[in-house]
Amino acid sequence: MNYLYIANWKMNLSYSQSLDFCTNNIDQLNALVYSAQVVLCPSFVALGPIAQVLKKSSITIGAQNCSEFESGSYTGEVSAASLAEIGVSYCIVGHSERRIYFGETTEKIIKKINLLYANAMMPIICIGENKEEFLQKKTIHALTEQLEPILKTFVHQQYKHIIIAYEPFWAIGTGIIPENTYLEEISIWLKNYVAEFAPDCTMQLLYGGSINEKNIHQLKTIKLIDGFLIGGASTNFETFCGIIKIG
Ligand code: 13P
Repeated sequence: MNYLYIANWKMNLSYSQSLDFCTNNIDQLNALVYSAQVVLCPSFVALGPIAQVLKKSSITIGAQNCSEFESGSYTGEVSAASLAEIGVSYCIVGHSERRIYFGETTEKIIKKINLLYANAMMPIICIGENKEEFLQKKTIHALTEQLEPILKTFVHQQYKHIIIAYEPFWAIGTGIIPENTYLEEISIWLKNYVAEFAPDCTMQLLYGGSINEKNIHQLKTIKLIDGFLIGGASTNFETFCGIIKIG
């Protein structure tokens, strides 16, 4: 299977910058899909227009968040159903920036996951340890706490495919990535843990955190990693293409 590359533009590209990224590079973007699965995650306001631009291409789009509620009086929220209506296929949930700045709890993440599946979209479930947990060698403990309730829901609902993005908080936006041996260890643990809980569920494991053109070759040597969640480096088209093509 080809690598899955997910561009998380966060709030770094404006509406017009996001649209320009797609309209200016539509042919090259289309060429990429022969060797890779590519998902672009702009901010909410750019999703609809970008969906139109990419309508005839195999590039898919993802949201960076959705509401934990189905519908109703929730000022400022965007429902999973609305995202599905405009052609969104993926949605990031549980990103550390949402956990830290917006109080996204596991309970809310599970509600979002269920709404996304109900609307035929794939959640990209982000998990990771913070710096302190990393230094105290408590990564597995932190990941278990975040994942266990989610996997219980998976088993209960009998979902058939899971995408997990392992993003150590301390690697995001810092220019530092974990050692390969560390990532290999975590990847083995994660794949086994999911298989134990949900043996019938297929899984794509992504790595995210300070990916760039210099370190992607090294990251691609880790066999259990199926794709990448890319922040800063995905906002520049040439760099993003370079990451996809290297290795
Ligand atoms: P950076 O690639 O900018 O470190 O961001 C990673 C990330 O948070 C992707 O979701």
